Amino acid sequence: MALEGRSLISIFDFSDREIEAVFKLAEEMAQHTRGRVGLAEGLIMCTLFYEPSTRTRLSFETAMQRLGGGVISVADASVTSVAKGETIADTVRIVESYADVIVIRNPLEGSARVAADYASVPVINAGDGAHEHPTQTLVDLYTIRQEKGRLKGVKVALVGDLRHGRTAHSLAFGLARFGAEVTLVAPPGLEMPAHLATRLDKEFNCRPAQYHSLSEMVTGEEPLKGRSGRQRALTSEVLSLFDAVYVTRVQKERFPSEQDYQKAKSSYEITEELISKARPDALVMHPLPRVDELAHAVDRDPRAVYFRQAAYGLPVRMALLAAVLGRRPARVRKARKGDYRPKPRHEVDFRKVADLRCPNARCVTNHEVYLSPHFTFVEHVPETIACAYCEYEMKAPLGPEAAQ
Ligand code: NCD
Repeated sequence: MALEGRSLISIFDFSDREIEAVFKLAEEMAQHTRGRVGLAEGLIMCTLFYEPSTRTRLSFETAMQRLGGGVISVADASVTSVAKGETIADTVRIVESYADVIVIRNPLEGSARVAADYASVPVINAGDGAHEHPTQTLVDLYTIRQEKGRLKGVKVALVGDLRHGRTAHSLAFGLARFGAEVTLVAPPGLEMPAHLATRLDKEFNCRPAQYHSLSEMVTGEEPLKGRSGRQRALTSEVLSLFDAVYVTRVQKERFPSEQDYQKAKSSYEITEELISKARPDALVMHPLPRVDELAHAVDRDPRAVYFRQAAYGLPVRMALLAAVLGRRPARVRKARKGDYRPKPRHEVDFRKVADLRCPNARCVTNHEVYLSPHFTFVEHVPETIACAYCEYEMKAPLGPEAAQ
């Protein structure tokens, strides 16, 4: 399927071949990151940001301008009608009459899906709460691909607040889909949500080893979970086996209370000394911003690629915009056996059979009153449903037949 007119809300919205096509286009766009190519002449992009951002918003805006298009921007939604109580659905139906593509960041999980459901122009998710950040994943995968020459078989450790970190959520699946080997390293309490680990396993046959700290890898301690990790732990310095170490910050704004955040804060720090134990050709990555989890001294290590990683955001976002705007058709190759392809969503409105709402307090359906909660059956876990917006999973109150 062509990418023209398509929205990118989740990393699951594009097939493996479509993602590769964006990467190919990004290589071409990399020639134009300083000039101006007339690909998006006459088109306008709106960035609608309800949360702070530096890289994501500015790289999207630069990308559109380098493509020759125009930009209208809401960098702080509190100065718009949102402050008067305007809904996401109403906002995007206004913005679509001005702009040809909308890039949205909002703290509510599932919010970007709502925007895409209501807008008649493509919508790109630039981060919806703790849920997903698919364009950061494109940038992260592209970084590994350019720096290592491949994704298949690359060993990547995702380190940090994997519970709340949306970049890690989208990236774990991106890596698994392209055959990279994933290891999860999170301090106690900040581990990746169980339903995501289950999906990695059941849908993508990816069973990451899990550790509580990178130093456990240096001392060769046993991983907490994971089959392949168990063998690796027999050697000392497991850390030296990784091709990439992807560090993330503790996501302060996602904690239910300041007290909870204080407990998790400073629970890990990646130091120069620790990184010296990594492979000489390893990549130290970070979606940025960093706070205190990644020492500034690591910057002088040649393995630190996070500033380059941020720079890759420009050609990748130029490619994505050109493709969804239909100005530079991405050449999507035929799917190979085992490739991931998006499936049609079969949503069920459970209010008809049970007065069911999504239990996730940060789900957009609990904040925007006009939305009806919808759920989909989870293929790989029996009698389980997931919210169609935030993907929160729970036991189905009734069987699939009852909900028809
Ligand atoms: C990330 C985000 O917003 O989720 N930043 C980014 O887009 N590069 C990571 C973070 O804020 O920690």
